Order: sequence, then structure tokens, then C-alpha cells
Amino acid sequence: MTANETIYLDYQATTPLDDRVLQVMLPYLTQKFGNPHSSTHKFGWEADIALDIAREQVAELIGAEPKEILFTSGATESNNLAIKGLMETWAAKKPHLITVETEHKCVLESALATKKLGCDVTILPVNADGLIDLDVLEGAIRPDTALVSIMAVNNEIGVIQPLEDIGRIVKKAGALFHCDAAQAFGKIPLDVDLMHIDLLSISGHKIYGPKGIGALYKRNARAVTLTPQMNGGGQEAGLRSGTQAPALVAGLGAAAKLASEDMRQEHTRLQGMQERFIKRLTNNITDLKINGSMEHRWPGNLNITIPKVDGDLLLADTRMIAVSSGAACASAVSGPSYVLQALGVSEEDAKSSIRIGFGRFTTDEELDKAADCIITAVKDQKERRCL
Ligand SMILES: Cc1ncc(COP(=O)(O)O)c(C=O)c1O
Repeated sequence: MTANETIYLDYQATTPLDDRVLQVMLPYLTQKFGNPHSSTHKFGWEADIALDIAREQVAELIGAEPKEILFTSGATESNNLAIKGLMETWAAKKPHLITVETEHKCVLESALATKKLGCDVTILPVNADGLIDLDVLEGAIRPDTALVSIMAVNNEIGVIQPLEDIGRIVKKAGALFHCDAAQAFGKIPLDVDLMHIDLLSISGHKIYGPKGIGALYKRNARAVTLTPQMNGGGQEAGLRSGTQAPALVAGLGAAAKLASEDMRQEHTRLQGMQERFIKRLTNNITDLKINGSMEHRWPGNLNITIPKVDGDLLLADTRMIAVSSGAACASAVSGPSYVLQALGVSEEDAKSSIRIGFGRFTTDEELDKAADCIITAVKDQKERRCL
């Protein structure tokens, strides 16, 4: 995937819209323009059918019931609704919430916002490989813990948390489990029952769907009661008011369906590509370090540190490839990555790190070119700066 010969390798920031998804969306932007909430005529009904189909497609991918899927504007909103909505419901009991240092900002900020309601928040550390320590989690859960929010796949380093184990611990303790699956949905197998997940956040644009759409899975159980964060016409079971966007919803559903059809093959293909890429890089940059567990990892993400090399300079010198120094959503906040530092990476090494993300439309040839571009830029910088 190229724009003016630039190779796109920032698949964790966003993914290109798959043309097959666009084709499903188009009728809802033109002739099928009805408001799905208009229950008195055909225009409303046909738009509403788009929501029904997509709800089924999204639910199927995580082993849920269609009625347990609420459409939102994206994973940011889903995370806000899940965390703030749940804690607000139980606020009178001043409950406890647990999350993790390496979570996305929208989880961390939502968690911290619940303090205003009188909630108590614990933010757990991670091990050097980016994974949580299950004993530490177990020890942190208290009788008043209402919610544990832990992501599936990390957006900066690609590590996959042990969801089944986490779910078992959380359920045994009688708390609820929220999982930010923005980088996992459609990429790795997820099963809300097997993993004891009560709330799960989904984003459309990470799986070749449109931006501005996401979903929240909410288990149909009395304890999982959310306070709406958006009031109005009572759409989405009264939990997320505002006219739904049938074109975007249909796009999310189509993207979910395509992802499920292709999941296993795509994983194998990306695994092979990652191995080839790492080999090419490490053959030439011997001091290169890979951040995060190699064993529990989504293969389309590689976060590397090249000691002493300036990451920003490296990005400037590798303009033929679109990579990033970390989370796009946190790029307004300058400074070294808090995620890497949570792994114990020094501030200096964190500044010498870049994230390479690849996916459905990346070719071997593009990755080879990207590796060569990084190798040349590192060599040049080392010579220039006498490193
Ligand atoms: C782990 C994670 N959570 C949440 C989000 C926010 O998703 P959205 O862009 O759909 O609001 C992102 C996007 O970068 C993400 O990577």
C-alpha cells in the first residue's frame, strides 16, 4: 500500500479501508439513506436491517448474542462507556477499579476520571515482556473490586495478554472484566464466554473498516449495568443515544466478516513476514532489541529499539516508509513512550525506538524495502553522529 511511493507501515494507527467493505457501505450513503430509528416506513426499515446484519456479524466473531452489541463511534467511546458507565452505576458503593500501566490513554484517563465519583483506582505494573503478572493481579483484587480493565493486544508493542487466565481470576473474585480489544478484534480468536469477558471494546478502522465506528459488547447480565454517557433518543438499548450511522455500521459488520474468514491464514502469513523482516534487520543491525514478548505477540506489530540512534531522526531519514514512534493517538503528547518505560526500557532507549506495523495489504517486497531503508538510515546516522 503506497501513497506517493511511501510504504504504509503504521497498521496499528489505522488500516486502509478494504474495497469490499466500501462496496457494502455505499448503498447506505446513497439510496438507502433512511434513519434506522424511523420505524414507520421502508426507508427506516432498510437502514435498520443494516444494523441487524452487522450486529450479528460482530457478535459472531466473539461468541456473543447480537443484542449484546452496542454501536459506538469507536473504541475510545466504548472504553469510556464501559469504564465510566459501569463505575457510575455502582458509585454509591465507592468501588475499586483495576487497570494496567500499558493501557491505551482512553482507558487510563477513563479509569482516573472515576476517582471524581469516589472510586478507588489501582494501576498495575507489567513485567519486562509487557505481560501482566497473574499473581500480582490476583493479589490486587479486593472484595470491593467492581471492574478489572485489561487490554487484549497492546497497540504499541503488540503483546497479547493471557485473557483466559485473567478472566478466570476476575470471575472467581466476583468482579467484572472489561477488555479493550481494539487491536485484537478480528485478528486473534476471542470468545467472551471462554474468557469470562463482560465488556469488550471494538474499533472499525483497525480491521480495514471505516473510521468513526466501533462497538461495545455488554454481557446481558444484571451486574453489567451501565449508566449512559450520552443522553437523548434512547438508541442502542438506551445506552448510546444519537442516530446510528448505517453506512459505518454496515462497514464494521462487513470488515468483521472478512476478518473472520481470513483470520488463520492472515496470522500465518504475517508470522512469516515478521520472521523474514526481523532476520533482515538483525543481520545488519546487531544491537537491535525487540520490545515485548516474542512468544505472546500479534505478528503484525514490531517495536524495535536501536540503542543510541535518535528515533525522531530515524523517522525523518526513512520518509519512504510510514512508521511511527508509538501510538498515533498519543502523538500530541511528546516525550518517550510510557508503554516502553513501563517495561523498564530506559528513557534514552525509548527515544531510540520505532513501531513498524503491517497487515493485509503489505507485501514481502515492501517489507524488504523497508528493512533496507532502516538499515541504511541507521548506518548513516551512526556515521554522521560518530556512534
Ligand atoms: C488499544 C487501543 N484502544 C483504543 C483505541 C481507540 O480506538 P478508536 O480510534 O476507535 O477510538 C486505539 C486506537 O489507537 C487502540 O489502539
